[in-house]
Amino acid sequence: MEIVIVPDAEAGARVVADRFERVVRGAGEQGATLGLATGSSPVLAYAELIRRHREEGLSFAAGRAFLLDEYVGLGPADAQSYHRFIREHFTADVDIPDAAVLSPDGTAADPSAEAARYDAAIAAAGGIDLQVLGIGTNGHIAFNEPGSSLSSRTRHAALTRATIEANARFFADASEVPRTVLTQGLGTVREARRIVLTATGERKAAAVAAMIEGAVSARWPASCLQLHPAVTVVVDEAAASRLELAEDYRAAQQVLAD
Ligand code: GLP
Repeated sequence: MEIVIVPDAEAGARVVADRFERVVRGAGEQGATLGLATGSSPVLAYAELIRRHREEGLSFAAGRAFLLDEYVGLGPADAQSYHRFIREHFTADVDIPDAAVLSPDGTAADPSAEAARYDAAIAAAGGIDLQVLGIGTNGHIAFNEPGSSLSSRTRHAALTRATIEANARFFADASEVPRTVLTQGLGTVREARRIVLTATGERKAAAVAAMIEGAVSARWPASCLQLHPAVTVVVDEAAASRLELAEDYRAAQQVLAD
């Protein structure tokens, strides 16, 4: 894993945006396939990409995007749906066609069939060139809660109490948070060609340490990223505060930058 420790969230957003820009410009007219995450963590990076689109000609017009997950029961018109979140925080403000931004259908009559369809759609599009991820305080990525198979595929899954409470801030109260979701599996996420995970703040420090320095274990789902050959983790000082080897990661970054 490449570990980048940054002074603050703004600096982290620039690093994440740099990774996107490299992949988007590198894909040229063919267009890149982007994997987008919701939640607060990538929002500053999306804002930076919007700025680069407006001021520096970064174009997403040829690209397509797949969301990681969606709440079951929420449709595109629902204010709390991830479908809507990604449009409001990113894609509506760049030139990617709306029809090229895909997400699991939370209103599908058969959630398991919808999950299988979505997994197959990602593969049919040729897979994801760059996936951005956040991380939950319990180590979840997408909505793969502790106990998720490290090889899991996109599926209908239940949320833990911790995640329901963490995400209640986007709803009137915790009782409004859907109990189940459609989520890309850990096996699906790990098929992305490149991954950049970003986290800030002390409350993510334990999950970040378990992901980078703990055993690969379903107890901390993000630890499966240790098995991926091209993962960058971008963390601020607070999120990095429980890393035993933080000085070594800083030194490695310095040597590689020289
Ligand atoms: C949700 C999302 C994840 C996200 C996590 C952390 O559960 N499904 O993709 O990484 O929350 O959210 P935040 O970035 O708001 O801390």
